[in-house]
Amino acid sequence: MTEALSPSALSPSVVLSSITHRYGRADSGVTAVDGVSLSVAPREVVCIVGPSGCGKSTLLRLISGLEAVQKGEIAVDGQVLATAGRSLPPEKRPVGMMFQDFALFPHLTVAGNIAFGQTDRPRAERKRRVEELLETMALARYANAYPHTLSGGQQQRVALARAMARDPKVLLLDEPFSALDEQLRRSVREEVVRIIRASGIATVVVTHDPEEAMEMGNRVVVMEAGRIVQADTPVTLYQRPASSFVARLFGEVNRFEATVRDGQIVTPLGRIMAPGLPGGTKVEVACRVEDLELLPPGTRPDAVPVRVRHSSFLGPATRVCLDLAGSEIHARLPGHVDVRAGEELSAAMAAERAMVFPAG
Ligand SMILES: Nc1ncnc2c1ncn2[C@@H]1O[C@H](COP(=O)(O)OP(=O)(O)O)[C@@H](O)[C@H]1O
Ligand SMILES: [Mg+2]
Repeated sequence: MTEALSPSALSPSVVLSSITHRYGRADSGVTAVDGVSLSVAPREVVCIVGPSGCGKSTLLRLISGLEAVQKGEIAVDGQVLATAGRSLPPEKRPVGMMFQDFALFPHLTVAGNIAFGQTDRPRAERKRRVEELLETMALARYANAYPHTLSGGQQQRVALARAMARDPKVLLLDEPFSALDEQLRRSVREEVVRIIRASGIATVVVTHDPEEAMEMGNRVVVMEAGRIVQADTPVTLYQRPASSFVARLFGEVNRFEATVRDGQIVTPLGRIMAPGLPGGTKVEVACRVEDLELLPPGTRPDAVPVRVRHSSFLGPATRVCLDLAGSEIHARLPGHVDVRAGEELSAAMAAERAMVFPAG
């Protein structure tokens, strides 16, 4: 049978069904996860993104077995791992987990750290797997080194190797790069994604960094207050966000409250067609800062007069703060564009990319 026809290639690796999780007492606790259902396909890398406290880590802890399921069901490769009152212990689950702080054992060598947790395997097999992973992670030279002698990026790869050592069906990474500095983060992230994709293990990565989520995930799942609010490809999330919250999560926007009249929405930045929306509907119009074009005054009839309050040079981009009839809006221009405080310009919104949401 070819791989494409085998059942495991067709059915999802991880299935979460209606998971709800509360901490604390029934009357005074917090609902950390609220009715979450999610499937991850074999070979898929899913990124869960959302603000701090929205329930991301709790979800991973439930899959790994560090937290008992209270409501709903978790299955991996067709095997139910946990339901309310029934739970496979973490060490019996085909799940590898990597934590934010790497959690390496300081008294074990690199090889010892990677071998840890494989005790159920024959010695020779364990050794072979450790050697294979040292090779994959470009750590062979460091097999006998101790974690504190390694760089952050190397420690990261040891932690990943340990998570992969038992050949899990699922890899769970919780904020995997937050302990690394900005410069290192990019290169390590690319390296880790390459290793994970090559391994073909279904992976769930949790991050609060939307850019990281877009870069790593085939699919990005956005959580807000314990719930999934949208799950889609990075492009769709950016271009067609399901809510103002999702739109703002992935980039800075200008927002205007408006009311639909005669199939149109009039905003301070011009008119938007809104066919199909009944007159009187209150809406929020959002326009990404990079979708605002700045022109010399009077160049285009649809542009509106603005005055530059100040601008900040950010290298690749320049962020411009503008006065629009007394209120403040922002634009993001290429970094080389020179804009001076006090300058009179006109602003035009790319109306076809403006986003319209129910007023909230
Ligand atoms: N062990 C715990 N006991 C009580 N409340 C917790 C515990 N762990 C997390 N919480 C609460 O549950 C919510 C979700 O937390 P968490 O899953 O850690 O979010 P995230 O990883 O998205 O930041 C938060 O309100 C947090 O304060
Ligand atoms: Mg967390």
